[in-house]
Amino acid sequence: MDKNPLDRFEFLLENFHRLPFEERQDRLAQWCDLDPQELQILRGVNALPVETAEHFIENVVGVFPLPMGVATYFNIDGRDLLIPMAVEETSIIAAVSATAKWLRRNEGKITTECRGRVIIGQIQIPRLNNIDYALAQLEENKLELLAEANQLVPGLVARGGGIREIEFRTLDREDGMGKMLVLHVLCDPCDAMGANLINQVCEGLKPLIEDITNERVGLCILSNLVDGRLACAKVEIENIEPETAIGIEEATQFAKSDPYRAATHNKGVLNGIDPILIATGNDWRAVEAGIHAYTARSGKYQPVTTWKYDGKKLVGEFVAPLAVGTVGGVTMLHPTARLALKIMGISTAEELARICAAVGLVQNLGALKALATVGIVKGHMRLHAANLALQAGASETELPRLKEELSRALAREKRINLSRAKQILEEIRLNPV
Ligand code: MEV
Repeated sequence: MDKNPLDRFEFLLENFHRLPFEERQDRLAQWCDLDPQELQILRGVNALPVETAEHFIENVVGVFPLPMGVATYFNIDGRDLLIPMAVEETSIIAAVSATAKWLRRNEGKITTECRGRVIIGQIQIPRLNNIDYALAQLEENKLELLAEANQLVPGLVARGGGIREIEFRTLDREDGMGKMLVLHVLCDPCDAMGANLINQVCEGLKPLIEDITNERVGLCILSNLVDGRLACAKVEIENIEPETAIGIEEATQFAKSDPYRAATHNKGVLNGIDPILIATGNDWRAVEAGIHAYTARSGKYQPVTTWKYDGKKLVGEFVAPLAVGTVGGVTMLHPTARLALKIMGISTAEELARICAAVGLVQNLGALKALATVGIVKGHMRLHAANLALQAGASETELPRLKEELSRALAREKRINLSRAKQILEEIRLNPV
C-alpha cells in the first residue's frame, strides 16, 4: 500500500467500490489506523449496544441499522480524507464520490471556512405592561444578566466558551395585540451543538428577567436559525465544458426563481449533509430546519448554493448555518459515531461543519452536472437495479444474472421498474443457464 506517500490516497481508492468488503475495510483500516475491534463495530458488531441505546431514548425495542459507506476522492482545504455517510439512498455516495473524483482529476478546488461561533437562545416576553421600562431595565442590567448566564454554564466557560452577548428585539404581534419582546442570548458552545446548554441558560435567566422587568417570560428555547455560526464552502473549477457550466449556472437561476425547484435543489445538497450528520450522531432535524429557514430569510425560499460561470471558471458556494457537535449529544457515546469522527481525522465541531458544507456543495454539483447533461435517470437506475433485483425476490445465485439483465433492459428500454424486474426474473427461472 505504501507505494508513494504522494499517491497513497489515490492508490488506496483504486477500484474501491468494486473491491470485496473485506478488502475495502482493510484499506480503510490502513488509511485511518483502525484496529480489528473498530472494524468489527463497522460490521455492526456492538455498533450500538442495546444497553447504550437504552440511555439515549425511552421505550427502546431495538436498534435500526443503515448502510454506512465512505465518500471517496475528497480533498478539502488541501487535505485528503474519507467521509463516512450513513444513508439508504442508492446513488448518493456513488454520485458524490464520482463528482469529487472528477474535481480532483480536473484540478478543481474545494475550500471551506466558518463565520462566527455563536448559537442563539430566545427568551420571549409575550405581552408587555410597559415596554419602555422593560427595555430600559434590561439594558441597565445587561452585565448582571451576562454574568448570571455564564454562572449557569461554568464548565463551558472553563473550556473557553460561554455567553458572549444578549440582544433585545421587539416584534409586532401578528394578532394586533401590540408588541412582544425577545431576548437573544448568544453563546459560544465550543465543540457542542449546544441545544441543552443554551436551553438551560435561557430557562435559568427567566426569574432574573421577570424580576428586573416586572413582566412575564414565555418561551425559553434555542433558535435553529443559527445565523451567527455559518459554514461556508467553495468549489472552483476551470476545466469544464462551457455548456455543462452554463447548464449548472442556469440550474441556479431556476432555483432562485422558483421555490418548487429550490426545494429539490436543496434536497440534493442535504443528500450530502444528512448522511454525515447521521453517521456522527448529530441532530439532522436541527440542521435541516436551520438551512431551510436561512435560505428563506429574505421572505422567498432560495437555493442554499449558487453556481456562477464567467466563461472561464465555474464557482459554486454554500453558506448556511450548520450547528453540529463533536462532544455532548450522543456522538461520543455512540461507538459508530465516534468512529466516524476518527475516519475523517477530526475532533472539532468547526471541522465537521466545514466538511458537511463541502460535501453538500459537491453533492449538489454532481446532481446539477447530471441534470444539465445526461439527466439523472441513467446513473440512478443503474445503481437502483440491485435494489430492484432484491425486491423482485432473486436469490443470492440469481442476483448477478438479474442485475446484468436489468442493466441491459435499462440500456435498451430506457426505464426499469419492479414489475419489469419480476418479469425478467421469471424468464431467468424458465431459462436457467
Ligand atoms: C435526488 O435525491 C436529488 C436530486 O433531485 C437533486 C436535484 O434535483 O438537484 C437529483
